[in-house]
Amino acid sequence: MNSEIRKDFPMLGGTSLIYFDNACTTLKPQQVIDAEMEYYSKYSGCAGRSAHHVAKKTDEEFELARHNIANFVNANEEELIFTRNTTEALNLVANSFEMPQGRDEIVTTIMEHHSAYVPFFEKSRKEKLKLNIVKETDAIEEWKEKITKKTGIVVVHAVNNTIGSEPPLRKIVKFAHDNGAVVLVDGAQSVPHSITDFKKNNLDFLAFSGHKMLGPTGIGALVVKKELLTKLKPFMVGGGTIEEVKLDKVKYLEGPHRFEAGIQNYAGAIGFSSAVNYLKKIGMSRIEEYEKRLIVEMEKRSNEIAKLTIYGNFKDKKSAIFTFNINGVKPHQVTIMLDKMKKICTRSGVFCAQPAMDYLGAGNGAVRASLYFYNTMEELDVFFKSVDEIAKTLGS
Ligand code: ALA
Repeated sequence: MNSEIRKDFPMLGGTSLIYFDNACTTLKPQQVIDAEMEYYSKYSGCAGRSAHHVAKKTDEEFELARHNIANFVNANEEELIFTRNTTEALNLVANSFEMPQGRDEIVTTIMEHHSAYVPFFEKSRKEKLKLNIVKETDAIEEWKEKITKKTGIVVVHAVNNTIGSEPPLRKIVKFAHDNGAVVLVDGAQSVPHSITDFKKNNLDFLAFSGHKMLGPTGIGALVVKKELLTKLKPFMVGGGTIEEVKLDKVKYLEGPHRFEAGIQNYAGAIGFSSAVNYLKKIGMSRIEEYEKRLIVEMEKRSNEIAKLTIYGNFKDKKSAIFTFNINGVKPHQVTIMLDKMKKICTRSGVFCAQPAMDYLGAGNGAVRASLYFYNTMEELDVFFKSVDEIAKTLGS
């Protein structure tokens, strides 16, 4: 599907760059760059404050972006809070969600990104809560055992950033709700790659980032079920979050604006919305199908190479992430060599998920190639030939 699509991405034009670091951040199509530029060149006012025509246009475009992005994950616009990124969205919930009376346990998993694990680790320490950690994330029995009537919140990824696999989200949500707990889903690695349905999956909180789905950096979203929004404590406060301030009392706005203190990243939100339009035009089911084909090819090609340690099973992969080590070679060295040999961009290390990498047996790091719909089978071929060459020369 990609020869026409690739022309939209300035970073892919006229170079032999092979960009396989999409789980970290994706490339941006010209349409997104133009949308962001348009804000700065045509209507760079502030929203929700001034009554002049420039501000009104900013307000319209900002709220349209909210509507469009919420709609993309099948949520309502009054449920979407703009944040800087997934990390901020997860921190917002950790800080603002008050554990219900009699519930002093959090359930999360060993496979979480630090951005999900650390805020709730800190919450558990500050509020003296028990943190229950699911290790076999696809084992339904472990979820059943850990989620109880004492659980206040379940924090779980939809797809993890280390090996691209997914836990049984629907069942987890059902256990949580049956036990009276709410569920916060880290959607950073799932929303860009497949259809997301906040309502149908009956999620309570969903966090995701613009930049991992073709949008600008510095903009993300937290979607909150409407009835929970009013129960969240304010997080950052100040201009834009207020209905009334007297010297001795403050009344906060209802709805998402209560959490959007100060002038917002309007250009980012508008660029994010343009990214959503771009993805809608391609079709999320088409993207998912194409990534499946990339995964099949990854499995076939990697099986032909000796001296590799591969993390995660191909059959469990939901997004096209290939994580590996060449035996006897440091992961950073492999990444640098791939870049120098063929301008192949991969990421090495523990991917901000140290407990997950320890658990996978890769505590000293690994190399990760994470692909998106604009990557090609030809690029995979160059990648695997290069990996093979390094393995043959330096591997043991
Ligand atoms: N979450 C990003 C990654 O996994 C930064 O690379």
